[in-house]
Amino acid sequence: EITPVILCGGSGTRLWPVSRKSFPKQFISLIGEGSLYQQSSTRLSGPGYGAPMIVTNSDFRFIATQQLAEAGLDPGAVLIEPQARNTAPALLAAALVRMQSDPDALMLAAPSDHYITQADKFRESVQRGVDAAIAGQIVTFGILPDRPETGYGYLEVGEGSHGAAVPLKRFVEKPKLADAERMLSAGGYLWNAGIFMYTARTLVDAYAAHAPQMLEHVQAAVDGARPDLGFLRLDPEAWARCEDISVDFAIMEKVSNLSVIEHHGDWSDLGGWTAVHQHADTDANGVALQGAAMALDCTNSLLRSENAGQQIVGLGLDGIVAVAMPDAVLIAHRDRVADVGNVVKEMRKRD
Ligand code: GDD
Ligand code: MG
Repeated sequence: EITPVILCGGSGTRLWPVSRKSFPKQFISLIGEGSLYQQSSTRLSGPGYGAPMIVTNSDFRFIATQQLAEAGLDPGAVLIEPQARNTAPALLAAALVRMQSDPDALMLAAPSDHYITQADKFRESVQRGVDAAIAGQIVTFGILPDRPETGYGYLEVGEGSHGAAVPLKRFVEKPKLADAERMLSAGGYLWNAGIFMYTARTLVDAYAAHAPQMLEHVQAAVDGARPDLGFLRLDPEAWARCEDISVDFAIMEKVSNLSVIEHHGDWSDLGGWTAVHQHADTDANGVALQGAAMALDCTNSLLRSENAGQQIVGLGLDGIVAVAMPDAVLIAHRDRVADVGNVVKEMRKRD
């Protein structure tokens, strides 16, 4: 049985104004049935999967448990981080807690904000990695790249990997554009889907070798954790001592026991409005309407209103993303929505 670890502590600023600090994109119904977090949790349930471990922060604890219940799922444990410290401490905390009952437990760490519609294909890819994970590998999932994206990790596979997991030559997290372009044209690289499978012991050993200080602090945070109404609150002082770093930089770039499964199903990390537009239902002119929205003579645009009482109407638009919330409206050219995260940074500075 695989224990899913669902990370849902991120804040997803590139999808502002729908994704907010207090209610980030993973908890929103952006596309498909239910929120991305509900879709992610449901994808990793059923035969072969145990109750999921949820790792989040104090602000999202009730949203996380409520949405899980709505999806008809029970959490195995809900770990509360006193502060966001990125994914490296979060995944280690989950492994250390799981280790208490079963050091050989198979775990699958997954982000809560990805969009995958072919759930069966995804579970099939996971199954193909099980033997390697049991044998002590950290299994990654690779996606065939189609552009020199710098927001992803790259997996150097060399020969390619149909079927079973193959050892990975190198893991490169978020490369510079020139390096991403070089890897894309060279071939033999896959995008890291941000999903990892390992046994609790394998992951803890990796931190012991490559991040021993973090292991010390996270172990203390787990030892000092306080159960609170079904949540497990990690010790704040020990947690504050942890470095703020992603698992990709802290561990994955350094370990030698990485393997990869090439995943052939659909996958998107819905990183911004361009991706939402791409995956949304559009008409013949490439117009996507979400909520109380209407378009006349528009092409290649996305119009969305979150507020039932507020209509959004586009007339003669081309290549525009317009998103209306009760308290904020974004109007942007499609070519510029990649910069929405910077707009949010700028607004926070001026606050
Ligand atoms: N609990 C918790 N605590 N979750 C967190 C935290 C935290 O401090 N920080 C981020 N997360 C969650 C996010 O909500 C998301 O679901 C997941 O962890 C991954 O974090 P991101 O911040 O979205 O990572 P990324 O997209 O920049 O990069 C990762 O994913 C890419 C694919 O989407 C890397 O693994 C890349 O290598 C990969 O290509
Ligand atoms: Mg992400």
